[in-house]
Amino acid sequence: MIKIAPSLLSADFGRINEEIAAVHEAGADWVHLDVMDNHFVPNLTFGPPIVARMKKREGLVYDAHLMVQNPDSLAEAFAKAGCHYITIHAEATHHLQRSIKHIQSFKVKAGVSLNPHTPLNVLDWVLEDLDMVLLMSVNPGFGGQSYIPQVTRKIAQLRETLDKRGLGRVEIQVDGGVNNDTVKEVVAAGATCLVAGTAVFGQPDYKKAIATLRELAAQAKK
Ligand code: DX5
Ligand code: ZN
Repeated sequence: MIKIAPSLLSADFGRINEEIAAVHEAGADWVHLDVMDNHFVPNLTFGPPIVARMKKREGLVYDAHLMVQNPDSLAEAFAKAGCHYITIHAEATHHLQRSIKHIQSFKVKAGVSLNPHTPLNVLDWVLEDLDMVLLMSVNPGFGGQSYIPQVTRKIAQLRETLDKRGLGRVEIQVDGGVNNDTVKEVVAAGATCLVAGTAVFGQPDYKKAIATLRELAAQAKK
């Protein structure tokens, strides 16, 4: 089943625990935590102490997307704060395989994210070490941007590579501009986990928003 991961970037930060509860009750599988440092991306959000204060709900996966330089020094703190997945950017670390193993040493899953212009082949020699690949479908930093259409071909190529190499267990997460208009092509290309900020938190009815995304995703899988 396709996982839906609402991004808290578009939530009301003043009521963050209520927002997390609301999307979980509305059917979210994961909650996506966009961590920004104003160096790797031109925006600033939150760090491990805030994530530690987020109420951990049984069955909900806390998925940290670190848009930061030098992510190695933060991995342990995010693991201790209760994250199940920690995703770093390939562009933000020099020793990617070491960084992946470093995250996994804290008994959490490791993801690597690629900016829209970064070629897939930077992952060639680390794919078997990974739990997830996050393909950015906007330039990271802000919610509410439009999906970059050529990323669909990138998702399809990654799907093909993973299947060929017997790595079907690796999640393909897509992040940026996923909404009712784009979800079908993203899923048809092979994504398994959808980040959705505006398409969930920007809607008055979270349950309806998640159900619609799920329904469209199911149609695309047929
Ligand atoms: C962008 C973030 C995304 C963003 C997605 O840097 O990584 O998670 O919040 O927002 P939407 O779904 O509104 O494009
Ligand atoms: Zn994100």
